[in-house]
This record gives sequence, structure tokens and C-alpha cells, in this order.
Amino acid sequence: MVAVAILAAGKGTRMKSRLPKVLHPLGGRSLLEHVLGCASALAPTRQLVIVGYASDVVKEALASNPDLEFVEQTEQLGTGHAVQQVMPYLQEFDGDLLVLNGDVPLLRPETLQALLKTHQSHRNAATILTAQLAEPKGYGRVFCDASNLVTQIIEDRDCSPAQRQNRRVNAGIYCFRWSELARVLPKLQSDNDQQEFYLTDVVKFMEPVMAVDVEDYQEILGINDRKQLSTAYAILQTRIKDQWMAAGVTLIDPDTTTIEDTVQIEPDVIIEPETHLRGQTTIATGSRIGPGSLIENSQIGANVTLMYSVVTDSVVQDNARIGPFAHLRGHVEVGQGCRIGNFVELKNSTLGVRTNVAHLSYLGDTTTGTQVNVGAGTITANYDGVQKHRTVIGDRTKTGSNSVLVAPITVGSEVTIAAGSTITEDVPDESLVIARSRQVVKPGWKLRQNPL
Ligand code: UD1
Ligand code: CA
Repeated sequence: MVAVAILAAGKGTRMKSRLPKVLHPLGGRSLLEHVLGCASALAPTRQLVIVGYASDVVKEALASNPDLEFVEQTEQLGTGHAVQQVMPYLQEFDGDLLVLNGDVPLLRPETLQALLKTHQSHRNAATILTAQLAEPKGYGRVFCDASNLVTQIIEDRDCSPAQRQNRRVNAGIYCFRWSELARVLPKLQSDNDQQEFYLTDVVKFMEPVMAVDVEDYQEILGINDRKQLSTAYAILQTRIKDQWMAAGVTLIDPDTTTIEDTVQIEPDVIIEPETHLRGQTTIATGSRIGPGSLIENSQIGANVTLMYSVVTDSVVQDNARIGPFAHLRGHVEVGQGCRIGNFVELKNSTLGVRTNVAHLSYLGDTTTGTQVNVGAGTITANYDGVQKHRTVIGDRTKTGSNSVLVAPITVGSEVTIAAGSTITEDVPDESLVIARSRQVVKPGWKLRQNPL
């Protein structure tokens, strides 16, 4: 049986932020969500999150996960004190407890699994993830005896200059036999530079405690400031982009492309430079995205081309062509084979199959049928200053250039709207509608000149 406890009560002073450190976003998810995602791969029987600083905000951010138990650490007296707070929750528990730092987001589930395996096969009291770092500054140093058993962990600030030379660092990721940890937690003292109760001091009272070096040291990067946050972002991006390239996605210029780890991409998609894919976005095979595009929480079908455009919370069906310079602002569904051209803004609208909105239009709260041709400069006037209203346009209708459809309004199918019309009343199927004043020509009329 495995339980997980995540340390997330600290403020994160070095972030210089009002937001608790563990809620800072890294790609599409917070630091804490990354850690939780990694832990959940082990299918733990219990998941405890130790919260303290701005605990309401942290709990709120994780409210959608019903499996989490929140443990309050009202005063942040150190990582050891934090773990002491779980004791009442785990009185009946008899198994291993994984303790993870909420600010170590790049850890892979495989690493955690390997740590647990070593821990269990050696029947260790504790097993600690370590790394050999070229620049160990800021991390606790791990001291081992000849048989790789941990004798002591000393925080950077508490090290003597000689001890500081040790490059083997504590990752802040531990596996404990819970009965053993529960026995020694009350023994912790705060006799160190920070006057805190350090979790790392439990190793003095336990045995055997084994150190396991992580293969890829980048996984254990702890985030304490914004510089480390940006380093972690770059590492995560490289990982994500390498994974998609290995899976058959072409990235023309990975350096100028960002892809959040929540995105799904099918093989034979081509991502052009300066393109950013975020949130719950999916892209189906054969599509070509970019250059210069931002897609957030949207589903893009197969064989779509989309360039220099921004798409948010929307669906684009197969074979559609979007852009350049289109803005799908939210709750838009573009049907198969549609063409959305330059300087077109769509919001809360559904376009039927093979509908074209090719130039300079705004459609808001609109539903079109199939094969509609929305002429250049067509606007749906959806807002009367108080409420939004819908526009409905039937199949194969053509709106003339520069027409305005004043909602609420229904225009039938196979209607032709004359250019420059302002349509304020419903239009029946198969009709021509002209709603503009007739052109007046006065022959022989000349502008009277002012006498000098
Ligand atoms: C800790 C380790 C250090 C290790 C490093 C790895 C200790 C004493 N030191 O140092 O050996 O190399 O992580 O990243 O454990 N927290 C609480 N309550 C508290 C204090 C902290 O929940 O009272 C949480 C923080 O929110 C954070 C985590 O514990 O998520 C680590 O705390 P932090 O202050 O960042 O520890 P480090 O100094 O980095
Ligand atoms: Ca830290």
C-alpha cells in the first residue's frame, strides 16, 4: 500500500509573488498539478496535500479533484513539521509513504516507480532520491557511507565549506516505511540556521536509509525563484517537443514553438514557426498549423490549414482553411471545408459545411446552414446595447458585401442579400432582398463655387 504526501504549505518567498509558489503555472498546469500528475501514476491509496500559506486559494485551485485530502499546516515551521501534520490522518495506515516537494515539477512517474521498487525490494526504512549536480548550490547535501547508505543530509546553509563541496544533493523526493517515519517524526529538533524542523533530519534516526541517484538530473530541479521557473519551462518544452517529433509530428522551428503538455497531436501534422498550442487542444492528422498562430482549448480536425490566426475554445472540422488573420474568439464551430479568411472575427457561432466567410467580417451569435457565402464586410449586429441576439442564415444563402444583419433575425435558405443592405426583418427562403436607398443621379448638377 502506498500513500502520497505533497508538501505545499510554503509561501515561496523567493518567487516575490502574491500567488502561492506551488500554484505558479508551468506550461498548462501549476507546479502542484505536475507533481500530483506524477504521483497519481502510482495509483496511491491516499493523496494528502499539506497546505498552509493561502491554503484557501490552493484548495480552490484543486477543488475538481475529489481524491485529495488537505492537511493544514497553520504555521510553516519547516518540511519536517509539515509531515508531522499528517500523523493524525495516517494512524491506521500501514504501508509506504511517498513524500514529494510541491515545487519539484519535472519528476517522471518512472523515476518514482523505480524509487518505490528499490525501497520495497531492499526493505529500506527510507529511500531518498538524489542527484549529482555540477551546481549543487541551494540544495541539501546527502552524505553516504561506503555501502551507499545515508548517514546525514545537511542543508546548503548549514554546511561547512568542506561539506558544501559534496555534489550529491537531496531531490526532496522520499519514500518512507510509514511506521518507521511516524516513530521518529516527534524526535525532530529545530537546531539549524533557519530554526526549522527539517524532514531531512529523520535520516539520523532511521536505518537503513538508501540514496538512489536519478538518471536525468533535470527531473529534480526545484523551483524557488522565477529564473528556475523559466529553466524548468525550457526543459519541459524540450521534452514535449521531442516527444511529438518522435511521434511523427513535424516542427519546422521548435525553438519558436511552444506546446503545453495537455495538447494532443496526431502524426503528420506540420507545425510552422511561431506557433503556440495551449490547454486542451487536439490537432488531427494532415493539418498544417502556423506560422504565427495561437490555439487554446480547441479541437482542430484533419487536413486543416490555419495560419496567422488565434483560436480559443472552438472546434474546426476537417479540411477547413483558416486565416491569415482570423480570430475565433470562443464557442465557434467551423464546419467541414469552410473557408475563414482575412480579418474575420467569429464568436459563439456555428458555420455549416463548406461555408465561406472570406474577408473582413464579424459574425457573433450566428448559425449558418451549409454552403453559405458571407460577402466581404458582412456584420451581424448581435448586441443592442443590453442583450445579445441570434442571427440564423439558411443553406446556400449569399450575403452581399457590406451587409448588416440586425439580430434577432432569421434569413432563409437560398436568399441573396444585395450589397450594402441593412436587414432588420426576417427574410423568407429563395428570395432577393435589397435594403438600402436607391441611388439618385441628378444630371447636369454641379457644385456651386464660392465667388472670390
Ligand atoms: C528542501 C530540502 C533540501 C532539498 C530541496 C530540494 C529540507 C529541510 N530541505 O529544501 O534538502 O535539497 O528541498 O528541492 O526539507 N514546505 C511546507 N511547509 C513548510 C516548509 C516548506 O509545506 O513549513 C513545502 C514548500 O511549500 C515546498 C517544499 O516544502 O513545496 C520544500 O520547501 P522549501 O522551503 O522550498 O525547501 P528547500 O529549501 O528547497
Ligand atoms: Ca525548494
